[in-house]
Amino acid sequence: MNEQKLEIVKSKNLKPKPQSDQIPFGRTFTDHMFVMDYEVEKGWHDPRIVPYEPLTLDPAAMIFHYGQTVFEGLKAYRAEEDRILLFRPDMNFQRLNRSSERLSIPPIDEDQVMNHLTELISIEKDWVPSTEGTSLYIRPFIIATETSLAVAPSQSYKLMIILSPVGSYFTGGLRPVTINVEDQFTRAVKGGTGMAKTAGNYSSGYQAQAKAYKEGNADVLWLDGMEKKYIEEVGSMNIFFKINGEVVTPELNGSILKGITRMSIIELLKKWDIPVVERKISVEELYKAYEEGLVEEAFGTGTAAVISPVGELNWLGRKMIINDHQIGELSQKLYDTITGIQTGKVEDRHEWTLEV
Ligand code: COI
Repeated sequence: MNEQKLEIVKSKNLKPKPQSDQIPFGRTFTDHMFVMDYEVEKGWHDPRIVPYEPLTLDPAAMIFHYGQTVFEGLKAYRAEEDRILLFRPDMNFQRLNRSSERLSIPPIDEDQVMNHLTELISIEKDWVPSTEGTSLYIRPFIIATETSLAVAPSQSYKLMIILSPVGSYFTGGLRPVTINVEDQFTRAVKGGTGMAKTAGNYSSGYQAQAKAYKEGNADVLWLDGMEKKYIEEVGSMNIFFKINGEVVTPELNGSILKGITRMSIIELLKKWDIPVVERKISVEELYKAYEEGLVEEAFGTGTAAVISPVGELNWLGRKMIINDHQIGELSQKLYDTITGIQTGKVEDRHEWTLEV
């Protein structure tokens, strides 16, 4: 793919920026967005930054009917001296292409789109909030735009990147949550789309989420779709357990998302000489370890929350209280280290951050 000239059209009506301590997740968007189109004959073309505005799409556009779409999520952070840092953005664009491959969407040129993203963020830099725990959430996504009800890959697509300032995910610091181990619904199956970041993986979880809320839980622990035996993910995050001094996370098996925070945690633990393994772990094994007093910590990991400690699990009437509902030492250290690197307060020995 050849490098194409980026067109920039500036907005004439700049919006007021919200107070950075009062921004709910994903409700406020900046003044501009990035757009690029794809047609079979032309490939990806016409990259542009334009004022943020609604789209016009035909009601028969394929995205509305069979869900051919992928997305990503990453963040820009404001560091000292007003530097703006992205955390491992190359990983997000690589994953976007892996998700696209699974959904039969043509790949983008990762380096080209990364350059356009940094241009977009430079234009919107005043939207990157500075209060502790805040960031600018970046949502790249691709939708199928062909007008057709045919059950087949679209012949045209739109790639867009929108930006949303977000507040601290947890007001008042990290708070361990109660989780229902879901024994009826399934998030993903081997051979399905679980490893891709695609819309249906999320909306198909809402019913289980509602059931969990009704029973006083904050979210769902997903088990494998075949036997309902092995642990896969928690809510929309990857999951880790610290059991008898060793950190365990489910191995990537095709139905689990390859989280960038997950990967970073594994790399940090290895550097700290803390034993960490990626393997199958059954919920039965976890409860057995709990009964033996060996379960020390549990936490979800993702871009939105970074670390979300789990204080309690409920599985078929069996309650597991982890670390007395308190945040574990390792969970806190990982949170502080990763958010420290993201905001330039902790030395970035891995070269994970990219200055815009
Ligand atoms: C994340 O943890 O970043 C997620 O995947 C949640 C996102 C879909 C809002």
